[in-house]
Amino acid sequence: MDINSGLVQLADALPGVNRIRSVQRALEGRLRPVYLEIGVSRGQAFQKIGADVKIAVDPAFRIAQRTREIADARARVTRYFEMTSDDFFSNHAELLEHNPVDVALIDGLHTYEQVVRDVENTLRYLKDDGVIFLHDCNPPFELAGRRAESWDEFMKSQSGPVAIGIWNGDVWKAIVELRSTHDDLVVGVLKCDQGVGFVRKGRPESTLPYTVQEVAALTYADLKADRKRLLNLKPPRYLNQLLGEVAAT
Ligand SMILES: C[S@@+](CC[C@H](N)C(=O)[O-])C[C@H]1O[C@@H](n2cnc3c(N)ncnc32)[C@H](O)[C@@H]1O
Repeated sequence: MDINSGLVQLADALPGVNRIRSVQRALEGRLRPVYLEIGVSRGQAFQKIGADVKIAVDPAFRIAQRTREIADARARVTRYFEMTSDDFFSNHAELLEHNPVDVALIDGLHTYEQVVRDVENTLRYLKDDGVIFLHDCNPPFELAGRRAESWDEFMKSQSGPVAIGIWNGDVWKAIVELRSTHDDLVVGVLKCDQGVGFVRKGRPESTLPYTVQEVAALTYADLKADRKRLLNLKPPRYLNQLLGEVAAT
């Protein structure tokens, strides 16, 4: 087990709101719900989620046979797509047209442009009362928020004797871009589990004024100076309000 998955497993064992419990809560009470997870890796989250249909997308699954059996036992149907999210959305639109998404977890490639694309693509198949969660939206320090194309590239980029086991990339900028380009989406971040982003359809309380070029130019220092406003950062208990609003749609 690498340091990253060890830390993530440790964090998942702690009580309180995290990406997995957010997904589970959002699925509660839905009739035959469909769950989509982009970026599944070992299935740490995927194995715990119960839904009627579960769809997993990852170009390099690391899911053990036993984990897969556990994951499969918590669904009527599970589908695994070993490919990038872009390829999945290009080649499997029909599946999603027949299975509109109730809840999605986007946790794949950690560059913000890809995350924006994953959100936009998911929105095309999201039910009106559906919810998208995004992992890694609130890097706690500059190194964790460093841009890289993969975990391996991130680890190689670190100099010095101590390698950190947290990597969030610049996913946070996807939140800023979505809040700047959409006045039809409620977007924000729960302050837990390295930042659990949320997206639902509806009129937002507030938006941001940035162009896509300005978003591209933002740095970790900008985030540090103005985290609460840029991310629409909410305490974990806000999940109750978010899901209450979703239920009322
Ligand atoms: C942090 S792990 C996912 C962890 C998992 N969601 C969980 O909560 O246990 C990120 C995964 O994203 C996958 N990934 C990387 N690029 C991707 C892409 N373009 N599309 C989908 N998944 C991608 C990686 O292979 C890796 O397994």
